[in-house]
Amino acid sequence: MAKIQEMATVLEQTILAESVYSMWLATNVAKEAAAGQFVSLYCGEGSRLLPRPISICQIDTDRNAIRLVYRLAGKGTKEFSKLQTDEQVRILGPLGNGFPLEGQHPIVIGGGIGVPPMLELAKQLKQDSTIVLGYRDDQLFLKEQFESYGQVEIATDDGSVGLPGTVVDVLRQKNVTGDVIYACGPKPMLAAVKKFAEEKGIKCYISMEERMACGIGACLVCACKLEREGKPVSAHVCKDGPVFSAKEVVWE
Ligand code: FES
Repeated sequence: MAKIQEMATVLEQTILAESVYSMWLATNVAKEAAAGQFVSLYCGEGSRLLPRPISICQIDTDRNAIRLVYRLAGKGTKEFSKLQTDEQVRILGPLGNGFPLEGQHPIVIGGGIGVPPMLELAKQLKQDSTIVLGYRDDQLFLKEQFESYGQVEIATDDGSVGLPGTVVDVLRQKNVTGDVIYACGPKPMLAAVKKFAEEKGIKCYISMEERMACGIGACLVCACKLEREGKPVSAHVCKDGPVFSAKEVVWE
């Protein structure tokens, strides 16, 4: 898969929920991208800020565009949130490996800002997936779009919508079954999903949200530990991931 570095043009920017923005970018990255991959976005010329990794939420090959849904989390994302239609931003991508498309009855799980990358995956799986989304509160960004691709169940931290609790509480209480699990979200959620998958004997892929710098395997910022054939192996989330087989991932 070729990596593209170019100036992308903003087609549209909207606010989906408090501090959560959606930006469609016209870019040739759309031609190469797969569900679960991410891009690096660069701050304005002269800025010494590192590029920001942002997962790809949707790929529209007809418009040659990708959609990024991101949460405001500092100077870089604040700068992106101010970009207007027709303005340009430097992009590098697609980066990372993406999700393998497997199974007859997928369970697709997203938590917080791990929800966006699951939308393109749910679309590409082309099956009736069970989709479990975890949010902090009633700001349920992207929920309606997921409903086109399967049965959607919601968990919220504050209990304002769906089941109060975590995505794993939903899996247990609703007796969700399937033959493959895909998940993206914060570490505690992924650890709980991995445990659930092991208990039930379901194959599981997780996409890790890690701090990143270069995004291409040239620094050590995103190092993680894996176990392959009983042996410890170190990997880079940006290059070897962000998607890993859950059984390989070791958390300290
Ligand atoms: Fe530099 Fe992954 S971010 S190696």
